Amino acid sequence: MTEVIALPETQDRSARFAALLPQLRALIGAEPDPVATMANVAAALKEAFGWHWIGFYRVIGDELVLGPFQGPLACTRIAYGRGVCGTAWKEDRTLLVPDVEQFPGHIACSAHSRSEIVVPIRGRTGTVKAVLDIDSVLPADFTDEDREHLEEVCALLEPIPG
Ligand code: SME
Repeated sequence: MTEVIALPETQDRSARFAALLPQLRALIGAEPDPVATMANVAAALKEAFGWHWIGFYRVIGDELVLGPFQGPLACTRIAYGRGVCGTAWKEDRTLLVPDVEQFPGHIACSAHSRSEIVVPIRGRTGTVKAVLDIDSVLPADFTDEDREHLEEVCALLEPIPG
């Protein structure tokens, strides 16, 4: 397994995602452990895009529980339907939040976060097993293109047991 992510010079995100995706596919390979895989995916996204906080919350029982992440300390448990993460889980869809202060019930783990995207990860059965949460210090930092690319990244994780 390669230990270095090769990225283009350009900061264009679509170009970076295009380079990253096959490397993530290879990195994930046949690894069956979700925590190991989420850890490397969070590290690769941090290296490629440098966002403030990048991490996973896993569905355990009736809560989301903090999983592998890159960035400052974060809250460990989020109830179903609470915050952006719990809402993305409940509604089973990606939530793109251009201004976190305008999202009712947003959970502020970091005072520096301005915008956020949360992408659900479904298991083999189609139910949500985890979410990928990314916070940016910039307002309205996430585009529909980012959403599409991050949904592709999360699709790579779907065969992995939650
Ligand atoms: N802002 C999230 C909580 C998780 S942290 O951002 C890492 C939310 O509202 O669900």
